Amino acid sequence: MSEAPIGVFDSGVGGLSVLNEIHALLPNESLLYVGDCGHIPYGEKSPEFIRQRCAVIADFFQQQGAKAIVLACNTATVAGVADLRQRYPHWPIVGMEPAVKPAAAATRSGVVGVLATTGTLQSAKFAALLDRFANDVRVITQPCPGLVELIETGDLQSQALRSRLQGYVEPLLAAGCDTIILGCTHYPFLKPLLRQMLPPSICLIDTGAAVARQLQRLLRERGLLATGPAQETQFWTSALPEQMRNILPALWNKSGVVRSFAL
Ligand code: DGL
Repeated sequence: MSEAPIGVFDSGVGGLSVLNEIHALLPNESLLYVGDCGHIPYGEKSPEFIRQRCAVIADFFQQQGAKAIVLACNTATVAGVADLRQRYPHWPIVGMEPAVKPAAAATRSGVVGVLATTGTLQSAKFAALLDRFANDVRVITQPCPGLVELIETGDLQSQALRSRLQGYVEPLLAAGCDTIILGCTHYPFLKPLLRQMLPPSICLIDTGAAVARQLQRLLRERGLLATGPAQETQFWTSALPEQMRNILPALWNKSGVVRSFAL
């Protein structure tokens, strides 16, 4: 069982930012990745719809013999992780949430910005996170509709992306944020662009590495860490496979076999 693969999924290619961290920390693990690119963006969909997609994808990972699941998507986590944990009590399931706690500890100005999807920012789970960890700081939230679709094109330096992102970070800077949480797994791919547009003193925080460490902890506790060698990573998408295939070298640093996920 410990050599079985780990299923990782996102609404699209954003979860590859998490897959990179998992692969770097746990190179012996075999990885399966589903990008639900045909249903992007999750951030503007109802929680019910996202829960259904989570169930379909988790069933698929079960058929593939996965030993653990990572919801490499903040929006899917707030909508679907509780349901999945109920449905699959035997699996280690790792979700993600915006890094409010480390950001509250890091800020010097006392003002923290959060870039995330509408779905994440409107969720009760996010409100609870603020209640728990953000009492001593001011938090400015910024939903970013349209950003994910532009990142999915694979052109991470396009003028359209640059101007939309500029519009989203300006209110955060105007409010005095010195720390910005990247609360969507697509956004770590914007770091080079953000570095060009932000003062160097601004701290950017995301949770990909922490998620990889949490996965490692859970696997170790259950005696499920693989000894390797890992199988080649496999990819599926619910949109056109060539779209993801073209983007992989930029976001995963390698090419890979991408199949159609038509569920
Ligand atoms: N990557 C996802 C997240 O972490 C959301 C993208 C989307 O809106 O589909 O929230």
